[in-house]
Amino acid sequence: MKISIRTATCLSCILLTSAAHAAVFQGVVADEQGTGIAGAMVTFRFGEPFQERTVFTDDAGAYAATGLPAGTNHLLRVRRIGWKDLISGGHLASEDGATALDLTMVRHTDPAEVAAQLPANHWYALLLEKFDNEYHREQFVRQCTYCHQQGNAATRIVRDTQEWEKVLALMARMGGGLDADLAARVPELINAAYDPEVAVPALTQGWQEPGFAPPPSPEVRRSVIDEYQLGARSSMQHDMIVHPSGHIYSVDMSSDTLFRMDPSIPGGKREWFSIPREEVPLGGVMGSGALPSNTEMHVGPHSLQVDPKGRVWITLATGNRLAMFDPSDASFQIEPLPAGIYPHTLRIDDRGRIWYTIAVSNHFGMYNPENGRHEVVRLPARSFGEEVALRLLPFVFWLSQHVDLDLGGGEGGGLPVPYGVDIAPNGDVWFSQLNAHRIGRIDPETLEVTMIDTPFTAPRRMRFDSKGNLWIPGFSSNLLSRFDPQTLEFKNFELPIEPLGSETPYSLNVDLSTDTVWICGTNSDTLISFDSAAEEFTVYPLPTRSTYTRDIDFDRDGAVWTSNSNAPAWQIETGVPRVLRLIPGRHQDPGTTSSTR
Ligand code: HEC
Repeated sequence: MKISIRTATCLSCILLTSAAHAAVFQGVVADEQGTGIAGAMVTFRFGEPFQERTVFTDDAGAYAATGLPAGTNHLLRVRRIGWKDLISGGHLASEDGATALDLTMVRHTDPAEVAAQLPANHWYALLLEKFDNEYHREQFVRQCTYCHQQGNAATRIVRDTQEWEKVLALMARMGGGLDADLAARVPELINAAYDPEVAVPALTQGWQEPGFAPPPSPEVRRSVIDEYQLGARSSMQHDMIVHPSGHIYSVDMSSDTLFRMDPSIPGGKREWFSIPREEVPLGGVMGSGALPSNTEMHVGPHSLQVDPKGRVWITLATGNRLAMFDPSDASFQIEPLPAGIYPHTLRIDDRGRIWYTIAVSNHFGMYNPENGRHEVVRLPARSFGEEVALRLLPFVFWLSQHVDLDLGGGEGGGLPVPYGVDIAPNGDVWFSQLNAHRIGRIDPETLEVTMIDTPFTAPRRMRFDSKGNLWIPGFSSNLLSRFDPQTLEFKNFELPIEPLGSETPYSLNVDLSTDTVWICGTNSDTLISFDSAAEEFTVYPLPTRSTYTRDIDFDRDGAVWTSNSNAPAWQIETGVPRVLRLIPGRHQDPGTTSSTR
């Protein structure tokens, strides 16, 4: 590794930074022959807990990381597939103004190390190829990829069958159950796909050719990515939102914590608020049998939204409650639910009514804080048998407190699972039923329900655009779908992530100022944008390995926020979760680390 530092007197840089008292690192990333490397990700880490700022190199290998705090120690990492990660041995002190820093990268010589740099979905594609049965492939994707990536370093290990049986039994206990015949085949399929003798040559074909792992487009390379560490190795950071105040809120399910961060302060000012557990036992209403061993989850905060008065509402999934956090005095109010099990995702309409899916018991709920009114609707099941199974659930959970039942167990996610929800511009409420491959509409006045089959599998978290189109990610079908509630027509767009078919989009959101759809590249460490007018995708690679993204939100400046909520967190590079902000390349200068640029 060669790092050369010289202090530059670059007039424009000083002009750029002096107002903000910020530092700039800038220079060229080149190979040993001095040729610039395009599309390298240059990451500076500072603070404790840390913030990381990542910029990309341009065609000539030049980069400039602006808006870093002056007089602060930074750690540096430069990353480009095919080259060894360049990591600063010690701290680099930033000065007020610009510091020139030219960097030299060394090529990998071992293809196994190149294969290890590829995002999880490249490995996962090798496994998906092995399924000779579409029903099994779909079930595996839907059941095995909703807590953590498949194909990342922790999951692509060859294990003997006995060890796999233990892993699969643990996953089933937490809810990732597979049909018995599929579970019996999985060890053999995974071991065949991930055997390094076969996988490495398949993944690194042509790796010394220039076309291998091409750099992202110039527009993408003008983007800036900020990541803020939060929580611990045992955290399960679930959803996040941007509050109108500019604060970022997220929830840690495994410690029953609401997290708040102010990104206008360099490094991000973090605060934690414990959500009242009241009398809810460890594991919540479902008991602690289904929990990973290191969790402290009682009420399990899951999804959150802001109401018209600026208050934050949270579904407490395992506590069967709603929580309201009032930022004006940092107080909580807890609202128990009248019926149903596992309140999941919520949205709030213009009148402040809270609409939420209830995942385990196949219900849908509404709570109106103005008059204290609750409504809970039982959603249609697909068959009589399913109806009976759903009605027996409360008894099964009661029983599980007394006898050791295998709850998520044997079956491959048979029950319907109400999931995403959004409110149309005309006030109608729409939701998805994940495992049933359907969406539905609820009339907000009569609560009448209409169901519609989706022409693709696993509709997950969906959103309306400003024109009233509903955008839906197909989690196990690798697509984005546009649904028109007027004509009831769907139009599907295959996600362009290479290798095609290996993505599992968890969620999406629509930037209503431009009707740009932003989609989670959940298994490929990416965020994907879709220009709904031009019908064009753009893929933004993210710097951290195992970036498992769920909800997406936008700040006032058009930056895109999401959380890295791979669960378990220890599978994430550095072992801890993050929230992250992508400032897309069309915004010219990221300015300081604050959100007001
Ligand atoms: C409900 C969430 C969830 C689902 C669904 C899930 N996992 Fe996991 N997985 C976890 C957690 C949590 C861990 C970490 C367990 C631990 O550290 O004890 C884990 C760990 C793993 C590991 C690493 C095990 C080790 O000891 O290194 C593998 C492999 C794995 N999962 C495969 C799968 C497969 C295959 C499926 C589908 C059958 C699946 N997971 C579904 C939550 C889940």
